[in-house]
Amino acid sequence: MEKSLESKFTALKAQGLSIDLTRGKPGSEQLDLSNLLLSMEVSPQSSNGTDVRNYGEPLGILEARELGASLLSAPIDSTLVGEQSSLLLIYQLILANYLFGLKNPWKDQENLKFICPVPGFDRHFRLLEDFGIEMLTVPLTGSGIDMKAVHALLQEHENIKGIICVPRHSNPTGDTYTDENISALLEAGKAYSEEFLFIFDHAYLLHDFLPSLCQTPTWELIKQSEVEDQAAVFCSFSKVTFGGGGLAFAAAGKPVFDLLIRQRASMIVCSDKPNQLRHVQFLKDHAGVIKHMSKHAEIVRPKFELAFAALDALSPDIGDYQRPTGGYFISYNAKRPIATRVIELCKEVGVLITPAGSTFPHFLDPLDSNIRLAPTFLGIDELKIAMDVFVTALEIAHQETA
Ligand SMILES: Cc1ncc(COP(=O)(O)O)c(C=O)c1O
Repeated sequence: MEKSLESKFTALKAQGLSIDLTRGKPGSEQLDLSNLLLSMEVSPQSSNGTDVRNYGEPLGILEARELGASLLSAPIDSTLVGEQSSLLLIYQLILANYLFGLKNPWKDQENLKFICPVPGFDRHFRLLEDFGIEMLTVPLTGSGIDMKAVHALLQEHENIKGIICVPRHSNPTGDTYTDENISALLEAGKAYSEEFLFIFDHAYLLHDFLPSLCQTPTWELIKQSEVEDQAAVFCSFSKVTFGGGGLAFAAAGKPVFDLLIRQRASMIVCSDKPNQLRHVQFLKDHAGVIKHMSKHAEIVRPKFELAFAALDALSPDIGDYQRPTGGYFISYNAKRPIATRVIELCKEVGVLITPAGSTFPHFLDPLDSNIRLAPTFLGIDELKIAMDVFVTALEIAHQETA
């Protein structure tokens, strides 16, 4: 190891750090923006007289469905409010397809496959793995999915059941898909099979922190391609109000919507309606959500800018990253196969980074190059130190493989 790097590493180690940069969680300042929810009183009745304290309204109270429908630009009749987790709704939809199916249950079929853009969200991969679904990966281009790769897979494989993707500020690359890209995907899936399921996980629909690409609402594109009956779009308030204490929404065409409701009815009588009412009272409407999210952006932007500055100071020979304009992550690609080693070095100093491979199915990054950084949770001072550790670890690992 070069002398100056060695002494820097030793000095960082001597600080006895304990910093966690692993998961994309809102920082406490962001959570404070929604503190009113903790003490807010709600009326026992929703706008149409539903007693929110009791069972009933399994699809959610009217005003919460209206809010979800306006966020997803979908009809109210096609929108439901779940519990606090969109991941749970997605899981329920996959389970419903597995057990019952739109036409044939997936459990009665062999060699189930799904298309997964990579790098991607570890829990999507884990979910598909639970059902024994083979994950066929496609790269992201910076502005969406590599459609050439999608077409090649569709030609080569039978029994591809669908795709799961994050079309805005994708986790972790930050890709925001162009309208053309989403429409091309919809057309390709439609031509492949009328049972091809489009799952759009819009976890970062509302999470711009820099000027971002303006997208036609995904539901609008789904309508234009006439694939409502094969599509579902999800979002949640996990990173709008409280992680694990918000609301989750799903919009889907009738057969998919009915399938999801059928599955949910076996699991839950109805969700937490006082929380739904509280959220609507707090955020009010679509404009209220946008205003609230602009406050998040003010808090989050300086953290990303700090991380960008640290990464920009590195030699481009070591690696590169795509500058996100929203979402919760930065995806760094080392030019050499050093991701595992970098994360190991960071851990030695006391900085935890998401394990290498997490952004690929089965934790297998074929190049051992992708590292996901999640800068939102830390305070600025801690983040500065964490980035210093990260770039030092990158420089060391890069040199080691020279
Ligand atoms: C792409 C993506 N989808 C879903 C989730 C989880 O969302 P929820 O809390 O609504 O289940 C996350 C959280 O990190 C995410 O990054």
